[in-house]
Amino acid sequence: MSQESLQLHVLKTLDTQGEIADTQDFTLEDGAVVDQLVLLGALNSLLSKEMVEYKSLDTEVWYLSEEGKEIAETGSHEVTVFNAIPEGEEGIAIAELQSKLGNVAKIGQGKAFKNKWIKKNGANLVRSVEKVEDQTKDDLLVIKQTGTHSNAEVLKELKRRKLCDKQKVTTYSVKKGAKFALTIQKQATELTYEMMQSGEWRNQSFKKYNFDAVGISPPGGHLHPLLKVREEFRQIFFEMGFSEMPTNKFVESSFWNFDALFQPQQHPARDMHDTFFLKDPATTDSFPQELLKKVKDIHTNGGHGSIGYGYDWKEEEAQKLLLRTHTTAVSSNMLYHLANQPEFKPAKYFSIDRVFRNETVDATHLAEFHQVEGVVADKNLTLGDLIGFLEEFFKKLGVKNIRFKPAFNPYTEPSMEIFSYHEGLGKWVEIGNSGMFRPEMLLPLGLDPDVRVIAWGLSLERPTMIKYDIDNIRELLGHKVDLTMIKNNPVCRLDKKMGRELDGEDELSEAVPNPIH
Ligand code: PHE
Repeated sequence: MSQESLQLHVLKTLDTQGEIADTQDFTLEDGAVVDQLVLLGALNSLLSKEMVEYKSLDTEVWYLSEEGKEIAETGSHEVTVFNAIPEGEEGIAIAELQSKLGNVAKIGQGKAFKNKWIKKNGANLVRSVEKVEDQTKDDLLVIKQTGTHSNAEVLKELKRRKLCDKQKVTTYSVKKGAKFALTIQKQATELTYEMMQSGEWRNQSFKKYNFDAVGISPPGGHLHPLLKVREEFRQIFFEMGFSEMPTNKFVESSFWNFDALFQPQQHPARDMHDTFFLKDPATTDSFPQELLKKVKDIHTNGGHGSIGYGYDWKEEEAQKLLLRTHTTAVSSNMLYHLANQPEFKPAKYFSIDRVFRNETVDATHLAEFHQVEGVVADKNLTLGDLIGFLEEFFKKLGVKNIRFKPAFNPYTEPSMEIFSYHEGLGKWVEIGNSGMFRPEMLLPLGLDPDVRVIAWGLSLERPTMIKYDIDNIRELLGHKVDLTMIKNNPVCRLDKKMGRELDGEDELSEAVPNPIH
């Protein structure tokens, strides 16, 4: 039956009967029962046109379980047992009864003994009454027919025996509404230009807006989990007064990626096995020439109290184009620009972007990942300032307990690995890398001798994987990514919980995958 004819049938019934006291008894013309949910749809539609009013009636209905249904049909186990025992002193051997009735014998015997219907005679069972009544079956039949039983104790006992149970059923009591009629006028869903021109809108009945209706979900895009976590990190940096560095180019020269960072040309990180070099174009020669000379000089001869590396620095090596191996390549460039301002102003920079390393891909490593980097430049900064910044930064991530361990980077001195206590493993694990940029890097860039620059870096992937419970990096990035994962993952809120999660992750030691950068 269509919704419309069901609605008409409701109206007709109301017209003849005045009301429908309980829709449990409501049937179609042919006597068919109507599903209460389908009926509810019809009632709501009529209600919105004020053609009916209705109230919900909640009732409890008892129903038989599968076993209860079986007993209602074939009789209770105890009666089956009684019937299986022949009249007279002989009775039946327990074993025989067992093989005849199986499980029913076991359950039925107990109840039949309790009712004193049967007794033992040696290894046999005999009847001790002439005939029995199947009360259980009769009670179940009553429940089946009426949905309840007048004796609450019986219901309780049969429920305990898992033969029946109760269920809440909602039916409705329906009355005529203010605009009751026997025909349903089609309501307009919108006011049109034509209606206004013809004046028809005066007589038209309009459908009410349903502000409770669930809207169609918009077919928009979805942010990747890395971007969601990145956004949270960005907010933390912004809160701390940092501004974002322009990291929107993946290709850098070896000069900015390595040389300007006082990384020697024969450093292992500059090997093809660690770095992706470009083939076409393979080189660039657009560098600030004056800076190039200064960098060459500090590598070769040292200066400002440093002895340098004392090797033959080659411009060809610095010209090689590569996919940046760390975002510190951008930081060195930014510091050069900072040094070239007419007047030095303290600066706080950050970046969160992609870097590339020629690594063997496994569950926790890809050849590309994202680095989070913070850089602070000011006069007379100390290692204490770095520790203070790190403590505040990680506290905002929810990581309270951090410790530092001396480390080595070619461009920072001192350098510190950052550790956080791992509750699960019961030990300290590495969560990032940091340091104060060396004068050999800062002075050639043109910064004043009393300007100190502190910096730190960590990976974006690790906290993201923890946050979104992803244990294989290939499920996060690359061609194996499941788009529904991206669609369904919630927005990222770094709260105290995140901190606990960060503390409790054993892979965090991989936060900065290759410390030689
Ligand atoms: N560039 C370093 C790395 O890739 C991280 C770092 C940044 C270390 C800034 C110290 C200072 O591991």
